[in-house]
Amino acid sequence: MTLLLNDTLTRHGPLPSAGTLATLSKNFIWGVATSAYQIEGGANAGGRGPSIWDTFAHTPGKTRNGDHGDIACDHFHRWPQDLELIRSLEVDAYRFSVAWPRVQATGAGPWNAQGLDFYDRLVDRLLSRGLQPHLTLYHWDLPQALQETGGWANRDTAFRFATYAEAVARRLGDRVASIATHNEPWCTAVLGHQTGQFAPGFRDEAMAVQVSHHLLLSHGLAMQAMRAAGVQAPLGIVLNHSSASPASKDPADVALASKLYAGFVRWYMDPLFLGHYPQDPGLTIYPDVRTGDMELIRAPMDFLGVNYYMRLWASASNVPAPMPMGATDMGWEIYPDGLRQLLTDLHRDYRLPPIYITENGMAEADRLQDGKVHDPRRIEFVRTHLEAIAQARDAGVDIRGYFYWSLLDNYEWDSGYTKRFGLVHVDYETQLRTPKDSAYWYRDLIRTARAMATQTTEEEAQLWQL
Ligand code: FCB
Repeated sequence: MTLLLNDTLTRHGPLPSAGTLATLSKNFIWGVATSAYQIEGGANAGGRGPSIWDTFAHTPGKTRNGDHGDIACDHFHRWPQDLELIRSLEVDAYRFSVAWPRVQATGAGPWNAQGLDFYDRLVDRLLSRGLQPHLTLYHWDLPQALQETGGWANRDTAFRFATYAEAVARRLGDRVASIATHNEPWCTAVLGHQTGQFAPGFRDEAMAVQVSHHLLLSHGLAMQAMRAAGVQAPLGIVLNHSSASPASKDPADVALASKLYAGFVRWYMDPLFLGHYPQDPGLTIYPDVRTGDMELIRAPMDFLGVNYYMRLWASASNVPAPMPMGATDMGWEIYPDGLRQLLTDLHRDYRLPPIYITENGMAEADRLQDGKVHDPRRIEFVRTHLEAIAQARDAGVDIRGYFYWSLLDNYEWDSGYTKRFGLVHVDYETQLRTPKDSAYWYRDLIRTARAMATQTTEEEAQLWQL
C-alpha cells in the first residue's frame, strides 16, 4: 500500500529565503532519484541475470546483517504505485537507473525483451504523468558473467558497456530527458577495487586505477556509440564530488587537501574536460592509457551530473573535522558551503556544460510514529544545500536542477537497510510507504518556487507592455 501526499498546503518547516527561491525558480527542475539495485528487488524475475551486487551481498560478512537487494522496495512489482507517489510530490523529474543484467542477463548476447519492456513502460508512464525521465545506465550492477572475465579490470568490458548503452539508448533515447553513462565512477573504482567495501570487493590500488580508466573509456565509447546511433536525449555522466578543506595552513594539510581533491574530483574532471589525468605530488599510480583513449573520453557532453554529500577534510595529523553543523546517520559531515565552493571551483577550472545536482540528501534514524515521520534535520539539510546552490547560480554557474537522494528509503549498499535516506519511509516487512515531513516540505517548496516563476514571468510581461 502506498500513502500519497494529499493534505493541503501547510508549513512543514522553513522554506529557503525568498532570494534563494527566486534564483531557483526559473529554468530549474526539481526531482527525486533512485537506483535499480537499491529499490527494484525482483532479483530473479523477468529474465534478470545476477549482478556483482547479488554475489557480493550474498557473501557472508560483506554487508550489514547480510542484507541484500533480492526484494529491496519491491519496486519491480510496485512501480505503478511508486510513480503515483512521485507524481504526488509534484516534482518535475525522476532519476532512475537501468539494471544492465535485467536487459542483458550476462552482459553479452541477447537482449531480454521483458527487461527492456519494464523500462519502456516506466518511461511511458512517467511521461503520461508529466514527469521527465532521467536515465542512468550504470549504477554499479555489472552482470556477474562479465566479472568472471575480469569485470572492469578487463578493457573489453568498456566495449561491452558501449554496446549495452547503445541498445538502451536506441530503445528509450527518443523519450528520456537525459542519459548518464555512469553514476560515481570513483565509487566503482575505489570502493569496489581498492578498499573492498563495495562489489566486487577487491583490495588492489593498481587495479582500481586501471578500472577508473576503463570506466572513463567506457563512458567515451558509449557516448560515441549513442551519438552515432542518432540518440536525441542529452548525454552526460554523474560524478560524486566534494570540496576539500585543509585542517590548517600547515603545508602538510594543504598538500593532503590537494591530493584528496586531485584523486576524487580532478581524476575524473581533468580527463573528461581537459583530456589528461591530473598531476599532483600525492598521485603516484597512473593507468595504462592507449592512443586515442583520451580523445574519446574528452568528447563534449550535454550535461554534467554532480552528486554532493560532504566535503573532504584534510588533516595530516588526523585532527577530526569540527562539524559545526553536525553529521548525518552515515557519520558524514553536514557542510552545505562545500557545495557552493565545489560548484564555483569547477566553474573556474573547466568549461562546463549545464549542471544538474543529481544527488544530495541525508540519512537519518527516522521513526514512523502514528503514521508520521518527523525529520526536521533532513528539511534543514535540503534547505541549506539549496541556499548554497542558489549562491553558486548567482555566481554564474549554470545549474539546471536538483534531485533529492532518495525518493524512498532503500538498500544502502554495504550498510544494508540500516540507513534511511528517503523522503518517503519504507516499512520493509509490509512495503508500506509513508511520506515523511520532508516529502510534504519538498512539495511545498516546489509549489512556492513555481508560483514565484509564474509571478516573475507575469511581471516581466507587464514590463514589456509599458
Ligand atoms: C551515492 C550513491 C547512491 C546512494 C547515496 C547515499 O554515493 O550514488 O546510490 O548510495 O550515495
